[in-house]
Amino acid sequence: MKTLISLIALLPLGYAYYALESAIDPIKMLYTITGVGAICLLILSLIPSTCKRVCGQNFLRYRKTIGLLSFAYALLHVSVFIVLDSELDFLSIVEKSLKKPFIYVGVIAFAIVLFMALTSTKKRFARFSKYHKAVYIALILALLHSFWAQKVAGVFEYGVVAMSVILLGERIFHLKNNLLYNAP
Ligand code: HEM
Repeated sequence: MKTLISLIALLPLGYAYYALESAIDPIKMLYTITGVGAICLLILSLIPSTCKRVCGQNFLRYRKTIGLLSFAYALLHVSVFIVLDSELDFLSIVEKSLKKPFIYVGVIAFAIVLFMALTSTKKRFARFSKYHKAVYIALILALLHSFWAQKVAGVFEYGVVAMSVILLGERIFHLKNNLLYNAP
């Protein structure tokens, strides 16, 4: 099942490889596919714990796979910026970042998903799992980054925001109940 999830998650990259030659703006297309892939998988990685709480279905064993796939897409996305768009030219990276402040928000979101990927091994997760709640900050920052990058929001942007509000809303509701009733 984890292999199937990974294969489905990597399909857009197959499409990107196939469509690259005929793309009008290949770099923009790669930014979109890798950025959208990273944000969608980040949202999907939150669903297993919601499912467990809301409908008692336990898909928690797939959470790490989905989280690491989101990180892989974010890493490709950042590589598009550093290697393809900025051609490894440090000055150009600084120049672009100064011109596009939404990039800073992306950098912080990326730093969080990088930390989570590095601490996702069994041993490290046992030590750092409480910091994995930072995924919610990464999601909010990634949403802000993508909205800011796009200037005009379309159906996709509103769709991911709606999904995120539902997932974050359920968590806040659950946390509130926990605090109110000290439920274990
Ligand atoms: C070092 C970190 C990052 C950098 C330098 C970066 C850079 C960029 C750039 C330059 C764009 C605009 C592309 C364009 O329209 O021309 C963009 C868009 C986007 N980024 Fe990032 N990004 C970073 C991190 C992230 C992360 C961590 C995520 C998600 C988890 C993400 C998701 C997106 C999305 C969804 C878009 C909009 C794509 C579209 O609809 O076309 N980015 N990013």
